[in-house]
Amino acid sequence: MITMKDVIREGHPTLRKVAKKIAIPLNQEEEKLGNEMLEFLINSQDPEIAEKYELRPGVGIAAPQVDVSKRIIAVHVPSDDPEATEPEFSTVLVNPRIISHSVQQTCLPEGEGCLSVDREIPGYVPRHKRIRIEYFDLEGNKQKKRLTDFSAIVVQHEIDHLNGVMFFDRIDPDNPLALPDGLEVLESEE
Ligand code: NI
Repeated sequence: MITMKDVIREGHPTLRKVAKKIAIPLNQEEEKLGNEMLEFLINSQDPEIAEKYELRPGVGIAAPQVDVSKRIIAVHVPSDDPEATEPEFSTVLVNPRIISHSVQQTCLPEGEGCLSVDREIPGYVPRHKRIRIEYFDLEGNKQKKRLTDFSAIVVQHEIDHLNGVMFFDRIDPDNPLALPDGLEVLESEE
C-alpha cells in the first residue's frame, strides 16, 4: 500500500519532469499502481485508517508524486451532499487531457495544498471553472467527462503534476491574493 513514505516532496526532480504517456492497454504494474493510488486517497479520507498509517488526507494524487514519471492520476472527490452514498468523482485517469474549458476561472478560497508540499502556501490558484476531459480507464477504455468547480480544480491540479507544474507556480508572486477580472472565488466545499 502507498503511504506518505512513498510520496516525494517539492525539490525532488521527478516533480518537475514531463511524465510519459502510457501505452494502452496498461501493463499489470501500471494497473496496480493506479489501483493503489486510488486506494491511498480513499484510505487517507478514512479518519481511522489515516491516523493508523499517518496519511495526510488527499483528494488527488499523480504518479510522479510516487516517483513514477507516467501520465496516470487518481482522484477521489467526496460528494458535498451529506446524504449521498456515492462520491462526486472517484476514478483513475490514464493519459488525461483537457479537451475544452470555460473562459470563466475559479479558485479555492483557502488556496491549494499538495501531498508533496509540507508547508502552507497562501494565494489564489486560478483554474478553469469547467473542463471537458478525455482519458483512458484502467481497462483501457476511452472515457469523456465534464467537470465543474471543485472536481475540475482537483483534476487540473493533478494534470499539472504530469507536466512538471506545481500549484504555487500559478500564484501571482507579486500579489498572491489578487483577484483579476473574471476570477471568482469558489464557495468553500471542505
Ligand atoms: Ni499536488
